[in-house]
Amino acid sequence: MTDLTYAIEEYLEQHTTPMDEVLSELYRETHLHAMNPRMVSGPVQGRFLQLLCQLIRPKRVLEIGTFTGFSTICMARGMAPDGLLTTIEANEEYEGIIRKYLSKAGVADRVQLIIGDAKTVIPALESGFDLAFIDADKVSYPIYYDLVMDRLNPDGILLADNVLWEGKVLNADTKERDTQAIRAFNDKVQNDPRVENVLLPLRDGLMIVRKVGS
Ligand SMILES: C[S@@+](CC[C@H](N)C(=O)[O-])C[C@H]1O[C@@H](n2cnc3c(N)ncnc32)[C@H](O)[C@@H]1O
Repeated sequence: MTDLTYAIEEYLEQHTTPMDEVLSELYRETHLHAMNPRMVSGPVQGRFLQLLCQLIRPKRVLEIGTFTGFSTICMARGMAPDGLLTTIEANEEYEGIIRKYLSKAGVADRVQLIIGDAKTVIPALESGFDLAFIDADKVSYPIYYDLVMDRLNPDGILLADNVLWEGKVLNADTKERDTQAIRAFNDKVQNDPRVENVLLPLRDGLMIVRKVGS
């Protein structure tokens, strides 16, 4: 990250509603104890996810890639209070911290945590999601797109994180599998006649897709 990008990130954070105590504590604990803490959505993207959910008020949300539960809490706080957020995490080591902070945040009753590989879990889920957030292993993004689109309601929203992959997506000749998969994902969305989409340069790139209603 250049000095200017870093300064802008800081400025964005200073002009975004701050995290409350629970999210601040989770953010700190993630940085102290989790491997690769940079994976956490963080204060600006977290607030954006919450705001988006407050606007859409989804009843059913699907998250792929829970990590320590930061984005889960943000979305759960914004969604309809009688809604259900299903979140899938492959690494069972995170279960303790996820459940601890879901309780602290007061959203445990509206979150269903499934520990497992999303590629095998999603096919068994009932359709009818209003919003989905893809934020897991990058090589599987194109697969997740198909699985989620099949289960998304008309006018439903699909979000995908890290779609700029630190700018590496600009390299069409890349041999890196993650970058190739994200490029394939972005092209797949762009060429899908069923959707309208916008790629926002928020953090590491956030793709927002609307499944056009009938
Ligand atoms: C970028 S982190 C998620 C960050 C989280 N959404 C947040 O904003 O705080 C990606 C997570 O996806 C999980 N993951 C990777 N492959 C997965 C899979 N096949 N199924 C479910 N989760 C997976 C990883 O263990 C990791 O915790």
